[in-house]
Amino acid sequence: MLPPTSRALLRTARRAGVPRASPLSSSFASRSCPQCSLSTFPARRLAAVVNDPSSVAGSTSASTPPPPPPPPNAADASEVKPKRKPLTQEQKNFLSSALRVNQTGELAATLIYAAQTPVVVRQHPHLRPLMKHMYNQEVGHLKTFNKLIAKHRVRPTALYPVWSVLATGLGWSTAMLGREAAMACTEAVETEIGTHYNGQIRELLEMTDAWKEEGYEVGPELEELTSTLRRIRDEELEHLDHAVEHDAQKAEPHWLLTGVIRLGCRSAIWVSERV
Ligand SMILES: [Fe+2]
Ligand SMILES: [Fe+2]
Repeated sequence: MLPPTSRALLRTARRAGVPRASPLSSSFASRSCPQCSLSTFPARRLAAVVNDPSSVAGSTSASTPPPPPPPPNAADASEVKPKRKPLTQEQKNFLSSALRVNQTGELAATLIYAAQTPVVVRQHPHLRPLMKHMYNQEVGHLKTFNKLIAKHRVRPTALYPVWSVLATGLGWSTAMLGREAAMACTEAVETEIGTHYNGQIRELLEMTDAWKEEGYEVGPELEELTSTLRRIRDEELEHLDHAVEHDAQKAEPHWLLTGVIRLGCRSAIWVSERV
């Protein structure tokens, strides 16, 4: 039984619309933050929300937004970042066309030496070891690009038969002109091929150096391709040196012979990169 003063105060409060206290509201009130006075979630309930936000979807009122996700820290960011940068379409096109034109060029080189060797060696037997050495290296280059073309499913040049006929004809005709003309042919072809490989190596290094600067890894396949191109480039330049040592520049007329062959090589490279 309340004293009369209390009953009067209670009646006055009800007339003013003050609701009765409930056990639930008093429970939240007991967890209010001492600094901001806002109600706080019980700790166990909060842990359940973090683990499974949907567990409170039905019980969370519109005025109580779900807790934000925890901010990512530096360790998580490094785990999410891919180790290798995916190739752009332009880079894929460059690599496909590089493998295609290299395979074509090595096929042509193999056929040039194959056509030259019997004719040159018949007249100059002492050149047999040199011709065999250069031919064998070209066969090795061709095998390398045959494997890479198959591995990366790159379409070979559509003009394979055309290049085969032209390369064989070039090798045979220069050999028939004499040892100097055969060597001038090697000088011209290897000058263009060396320049061509240098361009590819430069482009690959620009691409992979940019990745390294951005913090990406360069996969072993591209590292290996770069070193393969460097090795083959060096062997082509070695052939060029052999040709010059064996009187390539005594061919008559040297400027015309090498000029025509170099132009033909550049045209063949341009076409093979695309067709
Ligand atoms: Fe080669
Ligand atoms: Fe070569």
